[in-house]
Amino acid sequence: MLNGETVDARDMPPTVTLLDYLRLHRRLTGTKEGCAEGDCGACTVLLARPPANGGDLSYDAVNACLLLLGQLDGTAIRTVEGIAAPDGAPHPVQRALVETGGSQCGYCTPGFVVALVGAHRAGRLTDTAAVHDALAGNLCRCTGYRPIVDAALAVANEAAPRMDAVAELDRTRLGQLDSRPGGLADVFDALAAEPDARPICGATDLGVAISKQKGADVPLVALDRVPELQRLDIHDDHYLIGAAVPLERLIPVIAADYPSLAVLFRRFGSPQIRNRATLGGNIGTASPIGDSLPALIALDAGIGIVSRHGRRAVPAADMFSGYRRTVLQAGELIEHVILPRPRPGEIFRIYKLSKRYDQDISTVCGAFRLTLTDGMVTDIRVAYGGMAATPVRVAAVEDALRGKAWTLETARAAAGALDRALSPMTDMRGSAAYRRSAGRNLLPRLWHETAGAGPVTVQDL
Ligand SMILES: Cc1cc2nc3c(=O)[nH]c(=O)nc-3n(C[C@H](O)[C@H](O)[C@H](O)COP(=O)(O)OP(=O)(O)OC[C@H]3O[C@@H](n4cnc5c(N)ncnc54)[C@H](O)[C@@H]3O)c2cc1C
Ligand code: FES
Ligand code: FES
Repeated sequence: MLNGETVDARDMPPTVTLLDYLRLHRRLTGTKEGCAEGDCGACTVLLARPPANGGDLSYDAVNACLLLLGQLDGTAIRTVEGIAAPDGAPHPVQRALVETGGSQCGYCTPGFVVALVGAHRAGRLTDTAAVHDALAGNLCRCTGYRPIVDAALAVANEAAPRMDAVAELDRTRLGQLDSRPGGLADVFDALAAEPDARPICGATDLGVAISKQKGADVPLVALDRVPELQRLDIHDDHYLIGAAVPLERLIPVIAADYPSLAVLFRRFGSPQIRNRATLGGNIGTASPIGDSLPALIALDAGIGIVSRHGRRAVPAADMFSGYRRTVLQAGELIEHVILPRPRPGEIFRIYKLSKRYDQDISTVCGAFRLTLTDGMVTDIRVAYGGMAATPVRVAAVEDALRGKAWTLETARAAAGALDRALSPMTDMRGSAAYRRSAGRNLLPRLWHETAGAGPVTVQDL
C-alpha cells in the first residue's frame, strides 16, 4: 500500500528500488535522491507491516534507495506526500519546521520530515539527545541542525490526530491483504530453482550495489519476512536471535546484559539502517570491519546454519574463511545466532573507533570478555575487527593476559602481543600505523574502565 492506496506492482522488475519506483514511475518526487547508498536520508520513507498480534501499527523510517520493490509485498509505505492532511493541513512536525526556519534549499527537508514524523509517532522525541538519535541518518548541508532540533522538541508532545487516522486506515487495509510471507521450505525451493540466486535480507549492504548499478546481476531470494528467521527467544543462558531480526528490535533485548554492545549497536549506521540491518546480513557480508563480528567472536556466539539437507552450528570465530568469505556452502543460510548470556562476574566491553560517532562503520573495533578473580585475569577472550582480512580472535593477546594480575603493565604487555600478532592494512579508513596504534590503545583503556582507575590519559597509552 502506498499512501493509503493499494498498489499492484506485478508488472515492475522486483529489484527496482523503492526510490526509483516512487520518483520515476509514480512521480512522487517529494522523496529525494541524495547519495543513493543509505548515507544521507533524503529518501526516507515510513514502512509499516501488519502488527503480529493485531496492535497499533508502528512506522519504521527506512531508506527508499536501498529497499527493493519485491520486498514490499504486504507492507504500507508512507511518503512525505502521504503525511499532510488531504486539505493540505501540515503535520505538526511540518508546521514546526516552517516556524523555526528549519529549511533553506529544502532538498533534505522531506527526509527530515518523514524521519521526525516516525519518531514523533513512536514517542521518541523525548529530549535533545533522543532527537539527535532520531536524526542520525539525515544530513543537511545548508540549514544547520539547531532549528531542526528545535522544531522536533517544540512538537514532541503535540497530538497528531491526522497521523492516527492514517495509521488506522493502513492497519485496516493491511489486514485485508492476503500476503503471508513464505517459510524456509519456500526459500529452499526458490534456491533450488535458481541455483545462482543470492539471499537478501535487510538490503542495507547488498542494496547499495543494486542501487548503484540500477538492478541486481543475479536473482535474489528475500529472507526478511521468513518467520523462522524472525525468532528472538530469551533463554536463561542464551539468546536465540533469528538471522532476519532487525538490529533496532534487538537493542532493547540485550541492553541490560550487554550495555556496551547496546551502545555499539546504537552507533550502527542510523535508525533507517538499523530498522532493516540484520545479524544474518552482517555475518553474510563478512566484512573485516563488520561491527557485530568481534562481539560475536569474543562472546563465543554460535552461528546456526540451515540448508535443505539439515542444520549445523559453527562458532563465530570459525565462520570467516578469508577476505569477505564465510564457510557457508552452496544452498546454506544463516538461520540464527546463539548469543550466550553473561556468567556471574563476567565483564564485556566493545570499542568502536570510527571517523564519525554516528552513521559510520569502524576503522578498528576491539571486543573483550574477561573474568577477574582477586585481581587476576582468570578468563579472557579477545577479538578485533579492522586489523586483518577477517574479524579475528587474538589468542596471543589472550595468552598475555590469562593468569596475570590485572595491572596497567599487563595491559601494556598484551598491547605488545597484539602488535606482534596482527598486521593491519592501509585503506581509505585508516593507515596500518593508525590501526596498530589505535588497536593497542584499547588495552590500557580496558584496564582503566574495568579496574576503576578513571579516565585514560595520553601518558597511559
Ligand atoms: C549507510 C550505511 C551505514 C552502515 N553502517 C554500518 C555500521 O555501522 N556497522 C556495520 O557493521 N555495517 C554497517 N553497514 C553495513 C550493513 O548495514 C550491515 O552489514 C548489515 O548488517 C547488513 O544486514 P542486511 O540484512 O541489510 O544484509 P543484506 O544487504 O540483505 O545482505 C548482506 C549479505 O549477506 C548475505 N545474507 C543476508 N542474510 C543472509 C542469511 N540469512 N544467510 C546467508 N547469507 C545472508 C547476502 O547474500 C549478502 O551477501 C552500513 C550500511 C550502510 C548502507
Ligand atoms: S538517497 Fe541518500 S540515503 Fe537514500
Ligand atoms: S535545507 Fe538544504 S540541504 Fe538541508
